[in-house]
Amino acid sequence: MTEETIIFNSEDLQNGAQGLRFNLPQLGEFVTGFVVRYQDQPYAYVNQCAHVPVELDWNQGDFFTVQKDYLICSTHGAHYRPDNGFCVMGPCKGKSLKPIPVTELNGQVIINIASIK
Ligand code: FES
Repeated sequence: MTEETIIFNSEDLQNGAQGLRFNLPQLGEFVTGFVVRYQDQPYAYVNQCAHVPVELDWNQGDFFTVQKDYLICSTHGAHYRPDNGFCVMGPCKGKSLKPIPVTELNGQVIINIASIK
């Protein structure tokens, strides 16, 4: 695997549970991305709200609503669909999170950050 790939163990990523964060230095010193599992599939996004480019999670890794049906921005409460990053409610309704390609193979969640610029 190249350094443009980030790998997590599949077992560390559970449906509706804490997301896993990673650094995206190509976007800036403090920019992060995250991956969550929703309906058995991993989904990864740049950790920047479409309203104001702040991180979504207030407590690191907490991306889901209480009902585990949407990703929520802790700043003003924008709700995003976990499966495509589309904002369905909040000040950036109609916009989307920036997706990051992710695959899962042999017990590993593999995030390809090469295309993220
Ligand atoms: S910064 Fe995320 S909803 Fe305003």
